[in-house]
Amino acid sequence: MKVLAGTSNLKLSKDIARQLKLKLVNSNIKRFADGEVYVEINENIRGNSIFVVQSTSNPANDNLMELLICIDALRRSSAKNITAVIPYFGYARQDRKVVPRTAISAKLVSNLITNAGANRILSVDLHAGQIQGFFDIPVDNLFSTPLFARHIKKNIKLNNLICVAPDVGGVERTRALSRRINSSIAIIDKRRPAPGKSEVMNIVGNVKNKNCVIVDDIIDSGGTIVNAVKALKDKGAKDVHVYITHAVLSGEAIYKIEKSQIKKLITTDTIDNSKKVGRSKKIEIISLAPMISEAMKRIANSTSVSSLFK
Ligand code: R5P
Repeated sequence: MKVLAGTSNLKLSKDIARQLKLKLVNSNIKRFADGEVYVEINENIRGNSIFVVQSTSNPANDNLMELLICIDALRRSSAKNITAVIPYFGYARQDRKVVPRTAISAKLVSNLITNAGANRILSVDLHAGQIQGFFDIPVDNLFSTPLFARHIKKNIKLNNLICVAPDVGGVERTRALSRRINSSIAIIDKRRPAPGKSEVMNIVGNVKNKNCVIVDDIIDSGGTIVNAVKALKDKGAKDVHVYITHAVLSGEAIYKIEKSQIKKLITTDTIDNSKKVGRSKKIEIISLAPMISEAMKRIANSTSVSSLFK
Protein backbone atom coordinates (compact mmCIF):
# COMPACT_ATOMS: atom_id res chain seq x y z
CA MET A 1 0.00 0.00 0.00
CA LYS A 2 1.38 3.38 -1.01
CA VAL A 3 0.00 6.94 -0.96
CA LEU A 4 0.59 9.46 -3.72
CA ALA A 5 -0.37 13.08 -2.97
CA GLY A 6 -1.75 15.37 -5.64
CA THR A 7 -1.08 19.05 -5.01
CA SER A 8 -4.65 20.16 -4.14
CA ASN A 9 -4.46 19.31 -0.44
CA LEU A 10 -0.94 18.40 0.60
CA LYS A 11 -1.66 18.95 4.29
CA LEU A 12 -4.44 16.36 4.34
CA SER A 13 -2.34 13.90 2.30
CA LYS A 14 0.53 14.24 4.78
CA ASP A 15 -1.83 13.79 7.74
CA ILE A 16 -3.29 10.66 6.12
CA ALA A 17 0.20 9.25 5.44
CA ARG A 18 1.22 10.00 9.05
CA GLN A 19 -1.82 8.10 10.36
CA LEU A 20 -0.87 5.15 8.15
CA LYS A 21 2.80 5.41 9.18
CA LEU A 22 3.77 5.68 5.51
CA LYS A 23 5.89 8.07 3.51
CA LEU A 24 4.25 9.74 0.53
CA VAL A 25 5.32 8.31 -2.83
CA ASN A 26 8.30 10.24 -4.14
CA SER A 27 6.94 12.16 -7.11
CA ASN A 28 7.39 15.28 -9.11
CA ILE A 29 4.16 17.09 -10.00
CA LYS A 30 4.58 20.39 -11.75
CA ARG A 31 3.26 22.60 -14.55
CA PHE A 32 4.81 23.31 -17.91
CA ALA A 33 5.10 27.00 -18.81
CA ASP A 34 1.75 26.84 -20.63
CA GLY A 35 -0.03 25.30 -17.60
CA GLU A 36 -0.03 21.66 -18.76
CA VAL A 37 0.42 19.14 -15.92
CA TYR A 38 3.57 17.00 -15.64
CA VAL A 39 3.67 13.98 -13.30
CA GLU A 40 6.68 11.77 -12.68
CA ILE A 41 6.79 8.91 -10.15
CA ASN A 42 10.30 8.66 -8.73
CA GLU A 43 10.13 5.20 -7.16
CA ASN A 44 9.15 1.70 -8.15
CA ILE A 45 5.43 1.06 -7.61
CA ARG A 46 5.09 -2.11 -9.73
CA GLY A 47 2.52 -4.43 -8.13
CA ASN A 48 1.57 -1.97 -5.36
CA SER A 49 -1.90 -0.86 -4.29
CA ILE A 50 -1.75 2.87 -4.76
CA PHE A 51 -4.02 5.48 -3.21
CA VAL A 52 -3.85 8.85 -4.95
CA VAL A 53 -5.23 11.67 -2.80
CA GLN A 54 -6.61 14.66 -4.67
CA SER A 55 -9.64 16.87 -4.03
CA THR A 56 -11.09 18.35 -7.20
CA SER A 57 -11.58 21.69 -5.50
CA ASN A 58 -10.77 25.17 -6.80
CA PRO A 59 -9.06 25.38 -9.31
CA ALA A 60 -11.37 22.49 -10.17
CA ASN A 61 -10.25 21.99 -13.77
CA ASP A 62 -6.53 21.98 -12.95
CA ASN A 63 -6.99 19.67 -9.97
CA LEU A 64 -9.17 17.29 -11.94
CA MET A 65 -6.69 17.16 -14.82
CA GLU A 66 -3.86 16.57 -12.35
CA LEU A 67 -5.79 13.66 -10.83
CA LEU A 68 -6.33 12.12 -14.28
CA ILE A 69 -2.67 12.49 -15.19
CA CYS A 70 -1.55 11.00 -11.84
CA ILE A 71 -3.80 7.99 -12.45
CA ASP A 72 -2.41 7.60 -15.98
CA ALA A 73 1.18 7.77 -14.68
CA LEU A 74 0.38 5.14 -12.01
CA ARG A 75 -1.29 2.83 -14.52
CA ARG A 76 1.67 3.06 -16.90
CA SER A 77 4.01 2.35 -13.97
CA SER A 78 2.28 -1.03 -13.39
CA ALA A 79 0.51 -0.29 -10.11
CA LYS A 80 -1.54 -3.35 -9.12
CA ASN A 81 -4.60 -1.24 -8.43
CA ILE A 82 -5.37 2.46 -8.11
CA THR A 83 -7.81 4.00 -5.64
CA ALA A 84 -8.65 7.63 -6.31
CA VAL A 85 -9.15 9.19 -2.88
CA ILE A 86 -11.18 12.30 -3.67
CA PRO A 87 -12.09 13.85 -0.30
CA TYR A 88 -14.01 16.63 -2.10
CA PHE A 89 -15.55 15.45 -5.37
CA GLY A 90 -16.12 18.61 -7.42
CA TYR A 91 -18.55 18.99 -10.33
CA ALA A 92 -20.97 16.90 -8.24
CA ARG A 93 -23.75 19.47 -8.11
CA GLN A 94 -24.55 19.05 -11.80
CA ASP A 95 -25.87 15.53 -11.23
CA ARG A 96 -29.01 15.81 -13.38
CA LYS A 97 -30.54 18.08 -16.00
CA VAL A 98 -32.44 20.71 -14.03
CA VAL A 99 -33.16 22.64 -17.23
CA PRO A 100 -33.00 21.35 -20.81
CA ARG A 101 -29.77 21.28 -22.83
CA THR A 102 -27.31 21.23 -19.93
CA ALA A 103 -24.52 18.79 -19.12
CA ILE A 104 -24.44 16.23 -16.32
CA SER A 105 -20.90 17.01 -15.27
CA ALA A 106 -20.86 14.55 -12.36
CA LYS A 107 -21.34 11.70 -14.86
CA LEU A 108 -18.75 13.08 -17.29
CA VAL A 109 -16.16 13.43 -14.49
CA SER A 110 -16.93 9.87 -13.30
CA ASN A 111 -16.29 8.58 -16.83
CA LEU A 112 -13.03 10.52 -17.08
CA ILE A 113 -11.68 9.14 -13.79
CA THR A 114 -12.69 5.58 -14.66
CA ASN A 115 -11.25 5.77 -18.16
CA ALA A 116 -7.98 7.21 -16.85
CA GLY A 117 -7.54 3.88 -15.02
CA ALA A 118 -8.87 4.16 -11.45
CA ASN A 119 -10.07 0.84 -10.01
CA ARG A 120 -11.89 2.29 -7.01
CA ILE A 121 -13.07 5.61 -5.58
CA LEU A 122 -13.02 6.75 -1.99
CA SER A 123 -14.82 10.02 -1.28
CA VAL A 124 -16.55 11.86 1.55
CA ASP A 125 -20.15 13.10 1.63
CA LEU A 126 -20.79 12.98 -2.10
CA HIS A 127 -23.28 15.70 -2.96
CA ALA A 128 -25.80 13.01 -3.91
CA GLY A 129 -25.58 9.31 -3.06
CA GLN A 130 -26.57 8.30 -6.59
CA ILE A 131 -23.25 9.62 -7.94
CA GLN A 132 -21.90 6.23 -6.79
CA GLY A 133 -23.95 4.75 -9.62
CA PHE A 134 -22.29 7.04 -12.19
CA PHE A 135 -19.18 4.88 -11.74
CA ASP A 136 -18.94 1.26 -12.90
CA ILE A 137 -16.17 0.66 -10.36
CA PRO A 138 -16.61 0.37 -6.58
CA VAL A 139 -17.20 3.63 -4.71
CA ASP A 140 -16.86 4.04 -0.95
CA ASN A 141 -18.65 7.17 0.22
CA LEU A 142 -17.64 8.12 3.77
CA PHE A 143 -19.78 10.29 6.04
CA SER A 144 -18.69 13.06 8.38
CA THR A 145 -21.90 12.65 10.43
CA PRO A 146 -20.29 10.51 13.20
CA LEU A 147 -17.53 13.08 13.61
CA PHE A 148 -20.04 15.94 13.70
CA ALA A 149 -22.21 14.09 16.23
CA ARG A 150 -19.20 13.56 18.51
CA HIS A 151 -18.27 17.24 18.19
CA ILE A 152 -21.82 18.35 19.04
CA LYS A 153 -22.01 16.08 22.09
CA LYS A 154 -18.66 17.31 23.36
CA ASN A 155 -18.88 21.02 22.54
CA ILE A 156 -22.46 22.22 22.31
CA LYS A 157 -23.66 21.87 25.82
CA LEU A 158 -27.15 23.11 25.02
CA ASN A 159 -30.56 21.58 25.57
CA ASN A 160 -33.44 21.68 23.20
CA LEU A 161 -31.42 20.93 20.06
CA ILE A 162 -32.98 20.59 16.63
CA CYS A 163 -31.17 19.56 13.41
CA VAL A 164 -32.05 21.63 10.38
CA ALA A 165 -31.75 20.68 6.70
CA PRO A 166 -30.99 23.86 4.69
CA ASP A 167 -32.84 22.38 1.69
CA VAL A 168 -34.78 19.24 0.80
CA GLY A 169 -31.66 17.64 -0.69
CA GLY A 170 -30.11 17.62 2.78
CA VAL A 171 -32.93 15.83 4.62
CA GLU A 172 -31.30 12.36 4.65
CA ARG A 173 -28.01 13.78 6.01
CA THR A 174 -29.91 15.81 8.64
CA ARG A 175 -31.96 12.81 9.74
CA ALA A 176 -28.76 10.75 10.11
CA LEU A 177 -27.24 13.42 12.38
CA SER A 178 -30.45 13.87 14.39
CA ARG A 179 -30.57 10.12 15.07
CA ARG A 180 -27.03 10.25 16.47
CA ILE A 181 -27.69 13.23 18.75
CA ASN A 182 -31.26 12.26 19.53
CA SER A 183 -33.00 15.42 18.31
CA SER A 184 -35.93 16.33 16.11
CA ILE A 185 -35.51 17.87 12.64
CA ALA A 186 -36.75 20.88 10.70
CA ILE A 187 -36.51 21.43 6.94
CA ILE A 188 -35.98 24.65 5.04
CA ASP A 189 -37.79 25.03 1.76
CA LYS A 190 -35.10 26.73 -0.36
CA ARG A 191 -35.53 28.08 -3.87
CA ARG A 192 -32.79 28.99 -6.33
CA PRO A 193 -34.13 31.82 -8.53
CA ALA A 194 -30.77 31.88 -10.38
CA PRO A 195 -27.46 29.98 -10.08
CA GLY A 196 -25.58 31.14 -6.98
CA LYS A 197 -28.69 32.83 -5.48
CA SER A 198 -30.93 31.23 -2.87
CA GLU A 199 -34.15 32.21 -1.12
CA VAL A 200 -35.87 30.70 1.90
CA MET A 201 -39.55 30.11 1.15
CA ASN A 202 -40.64 28.32 4.30
CA ILE A 203 -39.52 26.38 7.35
CA VAL A 204 -41.13 23.01 8.01
CA GLY A 205 -41.01 22.39 11.78
CA ASN A 206 -41.02 24.52 14.91
CA VAL A 207 -37.67 26.15 15.75
CA LYS A 208 -38.91 28.71 18.29
CA ASN A 209 -36.67 28.77 21.39
CA LYS A 210 -34.65 25.85 19.98
CA ASN A 211 -30.89 25.64 19.57
CA CYS A 212 -30.43 24.82 15.89
CA VAL A 213 -27.74 22.73 14.21
CA ILE A 214 -27.70 23.15 10.43
CA VAL A 215 -25.88 20.41 8.53
CA ASP A 216 -24.91 20.56 4.84
CA ASP A 217 -22.38 19.00 2.47
CA ILE A 218 -21.06 22.20 0.86
CA ILE A 219 -20.72 25.86 1.73
CA ASP A 220 -19.82 27.72 -1.46
CA SER A 221 -20.90 31.38 -1.68
CA GLY A 222 -22.43 31.07 1.80
CA GLY A 223 -25.85 32.24 0.55
CA THR A 224 -27.73 29.06 1.51
CA ILE A 225 -26.43 29.01 5.07
CA VAL A 226 -26.59 32.72 5.81
CA ASN A 227 -30.18 32.92 4.54
CA ALA A 228 -31.09 29.79 6.50
CA VAL A 229 -29.66 31.23 9.72
CA LYS A 230 -31.54 34.49 9.23
CA ALA A 231 -34.81 32.65 8.58
CA LEU A 232 -34.33 30.50 11.70
CA LYS A 233 -33.57 33.54 13.86
CA ASP A 234 -36.63 35.34 12.44
CA LYS A 235 -38.73 32.38 13.59
CA GLY A 236 -37.38 32.67 17.14
CA ALA A 237 -34.46 30.19 17.11
CA LYS A 238 -31.81 30.62 19.83
CA ASP A 239 -28.18 29.72 18.94
CA VAL A 240 -27.44 28.41 15.45
CA HIS A 241 -24.40 26.19 14.92
CA VAL A 242 -23.49 25.05 11.41
CA TYR A 243 -21.74 21.81 10.37
CA ILE A 244 -20.48 21.58 6.77
CA THR A 245 -18.24 18.92 5.25
CA HIS A 246 -16.74 20.77 2.29
CA ALA A 247 -15.58 24.37 2.82
CA VAL A 248 -15.59 25.63 -0.77
CA LEU A 249 -15.90 29.23 0.51
CA SER A 250 -15.93 31.20 -2.75
CA GLY A 251 -16.07 34.97 -3.16
CA GLU A 252 -17.43 36.83 -0.14
CA ALA A 253 -18.32 33.69 1.85
CA ILE A 254 -16.01 34.39 4.80
CA TYR A 255 -17.23 37.98 5.07
CA LYS A 256 -20.88 36.83 4.95
CA ILE A 257 -20.25 34.24 7.68
CA GLU A 258 -18.53 36.78 9.93
CA LYS A 259 -21.39 39.24 9.49
CA SER A 260 -24.10 36.63 10.06
CA GLN A 261 -25.73 35.44 13.27
CA ILE A 262 -23.99 32.04 13.03
CA LYS A 263 -22.68 31.12 16.46
CA LYS A 264 -20.00 28.78 15.10
CA LEU A 265 -19.33 27.00 11.80
CA ILE A 266 -17.54 23.66 11.99
CA THR A 267 -16.06 22.22 8.82
CA THR A 268 -13.47 19.65 7.75
CA ASP A 269 -10.19 19.58 5.88
CA THR A 270 -11.39 17.94 2.63
CA ILE A 271 -10.46 21.23 0.96
CA ASP A 272 -7.38 23.13 2.04
CA ASN A 273 -8.79 26.57 2.71
CA SER A 274 -6.83 27.15 5.90
CA LYS A 275 -5.62 30.61 4.79
CA LYS A 276 -9.17 31.85 4.18
CA VAL A 277 -10.51 30.17 7.31
CA GLY A 278 -7.74 31.82 9.34
CA ARG A 279 -9.46 35.15 8.66
CA SER A 280 -12.59 34.02 10.48
CA LYS A 281 -13.23 33.84 14.21
CA LYS A 282 -16.32 31.74 13.72
CA ILE A 283 -14.94 28.80 11.72
CA GLU A 284 -13.35 25.70 13.23
CA ILE A 285 -11.79 22.89 11.18
CA ILE A 286 -11.84 19.28 12.30
CA SER A 287 -9.72 16.74 10.47
CA LEU A 288 -11.03 13.78 8.53
CA ALA A 289 -7.53 12.29 8.19
CA PRO A 290 -8.13 9.60 10.86
CA MET A 291 -11.37 8.44 9.20
CA ILE A 292 -10.05 8.54 5.63
CA SER A 293 -6.84 6.71 6.56
CA GLU A 294 -8.81 4.05 8.45
CA ALA A 295 -11.01 3.50 5.38
CA MET A 296 -7.89 3.24 3.18
CA LYS A 297 -6.42 0.66 5.54
CA ARG A 298 -9.62 -1.37 5.39
CA ILE A 299 -9.71 -1.19 1.59
CA ALA A 300 -6.08 -2.37 1.41
CA ASN A 301 -6.85 -5.22 3.84
CA SER A 302 -10.18 -6.08 2.15
CA THR A 303 -12.16 -5.55 5.35
CA SER A 304 -15.45 -3.73 5.84
CA VAL A 305 -15.60 0.03 5.33
CA SER A 306 -19.31 0.37 6.12
CA SER A 307 -18.77 -0.97 9.64
CA LEU A 308 -16.92 2.29 10.36
CA PHE A 309 -20.36 3.90 10.56
CA LYS A 310 -22.23 1.39 12.71
C1 R5P B 1 -26.80 22.46 -2.54
O1 R5P B 1 -27.60 21.60 -2.86
C2 R5P B 1 -25.66 22.18 -1.61
O2 R5P B 1 -25.94 21.15 -0.72
C3 R5P B 1 -25.26 23.44 -0.84
O3 R5P B 1 -26.34 23.83 -0.03
C4 R5P B 1 -24.90 24.56 -1.79
O4 R5P B 1 -23.98 24.12 -2.76
C5 R5P B 1 -24.31 25.74 -1.04
O5 R5P B 1 -24.02 26.75 -1.93
P1 R5P B 1 -23.96 28.28 -1.48
O6 R5P B 1 -23.09 28.34 -0.25
O7 R5P B 1 -23.36 28.98 -2.66
O8 R5P B 1 -25.36 28.71 -1.22
